Amino acid sequence: MSEKAWGGVFDVATDRRVERFTESVSFDRRLFAQDIEGSVAHAQMLAKVGLLTVDECGMIEQTLGEIRREIEQGSFPFRTELEDIHMHIEKALVDRIGDIGRKLHTARSRNDQVSTDLRLWVREAIDEIDRRLSDVQRALVGRCDADADVILPGYTHTQRAQPVLAPHYWLAYCEKFRRDRQRLADCRRRTNRLTLGTAALAGTSLPIDRDDVAKRLGFEEVAANSIDASSDRDFVLEFTFCLTMIAEHLSTWAEEWILWSTMEFSFLKLPQAFCTGSSIMPQKVNPDVLELIRGKTARVIGSLQTLLVLIKSLPLAYNRDLQEDKPPLFDAFDTVRASLELAAPLMAAAELNRPAIALRLDRGHLDATTFMEYLICRGVPQRTAHGLVGRLVRKALDRDVRLSDLPLEDFREALPELDESVYDVLGVERAVAAMQSYGSTAPEQVKKQVEKWKKELGVRS
Ligand code: ARG
Repeated sequence: MSEKAWGGVFDVATDRRVERFTESVSFDRRLFAQDIEGSVAHAQMLAKVGLLTVDECGMIEQTLGEIRREIEQGSFPFRTELEDIHMHIEKALVDRIGDIGRKLHTARSRNDQVSTDLRLWVREAIDEIDRRLSDVQRALVGRCDADADVILPGYTHTQRAQPVLAPHYWLAYCEKFRRDRQRLADCRRRTNRLTLGTAALAGTSLPIDRDDVAKRLGFEEVAANSIDASSDRDFVLEFTFCLTMIAEHLSTWAEEWILWSTMEFSFLKLPQAFCTGSSIMPQKVNPDVLELIRGKTARVIGSLQTLLVLIKSLPLAYNRDLQEDKPPLFDAFDTVRASLELAAPLMAAAELNRPAIALRLDRGHLDATTFMEYLICRGVPQRTAHGLVGRLVRKALDRDVRLSDLPLEDFREALPELDESVYDVLGVERAVAAMQSYGSTAPEQVKKQVEKWKKELGVRS
């Protein structure tokens, strides 16, 4: 009973089942470093304003350092009765330095403490995900030069549509990951706010200096409303949403590469070290990593869902429900981090199967749209040109040939003023080269974008 920090008003000991049900140390021990970092800054501020002596602060700092090392080394004992990581560290401090340790919680509540710990943790997590996203972008940009001349069929509705350059594909993913990084940076600004000092919910009558703590912990702002501060988990949800978008992007990529590595597509050869086999079919080489990147996306979406439901309708300010924010947050982070860690080397090492791609590039009349645009340049209204090319494609389909295999009479029959120059714009290479608008797939356009990306990411040519 006496072990509880809140034991004073209670006559009886907590039921063991309640202890097991309410504990969070099994998962929030992960916040130990942030908890100690926050406590050290808090103690230094308390010393600055005279609520601790310099010696007391020094003792607290030194002892917290010892506790930190013990936790890192795995020799620190965790016990369910002590509920959460905050109580564990504080109890260890009091056990070692007595009354001085009992002063650390001055002008502080676990409500603002856990919020601060989480903000410090999320801030680091954002930075780590951002670094891993840049690794993935680097892997994609890094292969652009080698793949510069590879033309792939581009798809809409998973049907062959228009030809595109392979690097154009790679950079499409780079753009998606850039938006992910921008979202993270934006989320970081709102995360990087000091909530410590708002105490339980109303602030404190003690003469604390919150700006001082903010500076020590590298927070850019001090939260302005104590009620909001102790209830706010927006940053946890926002970050998990950022993670969900990243997982969605990775999942799209994984899906595409799974298809591309099938015998039916044969566009890609995945590195063997990133594939696994079958226990019954000896010939199989399966894209399990990609499948799991796609599959684990479900967990991340689930975590976001959990958090959204968790905070729905919670009254102000702190409610114990909020303790449940950590497992989904940690799981979403671990999952996306692991996926990114594998995505980068996979992206770099997969090989395009150039002969297989080239062999079937003529199928699907990928040049039909640019041929239509050629007619538009000759004054044919778009709708008319569309119908005209459609009829020519019909003819080519009936004869199982390319548009460029049709004799001039067929083009003339469609539009009498057409001449031999139609053949100058047909064919997949010409269709790609013609795509000159900003952001299009023509080689010069793509090259410019590749150079921009190299500069942005510091990738050497
Ligand atoms: N373990 C708690 C959490 O993660 C810490 C805050 C507890 N505060 C309280 N008044 N019981 O939310």
